[in-house]
Amino acid sequence: MSIEERAPVGVDTTRPSVARVYDYMLGGKDNFAVDRQAGQMALQITPDGPLAARANRGFLRRAVRHLVAEAGIRQFLDIGSGLPTQGNVHEIAHEIDPQTRVVYVDSDPMVLAHGRALLASSPMTTVIQADVRHPEQILDNPEVRSMIDFTQPVGVLLLGILHHLADDEDPGAVAAVYRAAVPSGSYLAISHFHDPGDAHPDASKKALMVEKIFNQTMGTGRWRRHDEIVGYFGDFELLEPGVTALPDWRPAPDDEPSEQTDTYYTFVGGLARKP
Ligand SMILES: C[S@@+](CC[C@H](N)C(=O)[O-])C[C@H]1O[C@@H](n2cnc3c(N)ncnc32)[C@H](O)[C@@H]1O
Repeated sequence: MSIEERAPVGVDTTRPSVARVYDYMLGGKDNFAVDRQAGQMALQITPDGPLAARANRGFLRRAVRHLVAEAGIRQFLDIGSGLPTQGNVHEIAHEIDPQTRVVYVDSDPMVLAHGRALLASSPMTTVIQADVRHPEQILDNPEVRSMIDFTQPVGVLLLGILHHLADDEDPGAVAAVYRAAVPSGSYLAISHFHDPGDAHPDASKKALMVEKIFNQTMGTGRWRRHDEIVGYFGDFELLEPGVTALPDWRPAPDDEPSEQTDTYYTFVGGLARKP
């Protein structure tokens, strides 16, 4: 039986999925031929794609560590969490405090299937299948409510997901609902594909070519301008150094050395606190 035939129920192996293409970029095994083909098309334009994917995981690691170790956050809502990989949010948090609760949310059925085994392996974690575009399905979900106390500060992670919402799906309004749902002292982390425009014209041109490929193959992907991405934080206060290239956000000694290749300029992130 091929790996496609062994796919969990509900998983469409004939079309690439964002979660599985990202898994391929990270060197994971939870992807199918159709995902690898889509990934390879993008890699022809930006061969440094895997570096960008790993930079995003590095940003996640540093942001989560900061939130647990420095900001005292003990509950996380990780929306668009992706397939289990090395260094999942609860593993990073539990190195500092094993009592930290993490709810993983993703719309991809494969994440639910694999996540049940790997992400929801501790009583402090769970995984649900839901769509970021329907915040009420997440915020009112009984499993979420049993894990997250919305009267206490929450770490909301929207990493690598808002760029999978089209402009007419209003990612800004979606982010605003999650910002409003959490109390003062909560944090929002966002990472997002970025179009650097004239500041880095070659990187910008390639980003827009990859945007086309993503939309042809997966039907999603938007490389947005810096101002738009900053806007998703609303009135939350951005921690230094603001919304930056991922490797520049509070680099740590255990980071992979960064290289200023094209995707260095086309994937940014930031972390902000609700006043
Ligand atoms: C690029 S991965 C990012 C994974 C992880 N957050 C990270 O940054 O390493 C994006 C994830 O968002 C999920 N996703 C895309 N659109 C979504 C939606 N509308 N609702 C929930 N999840 C979605 C995909 O299934 C995928 O797992």
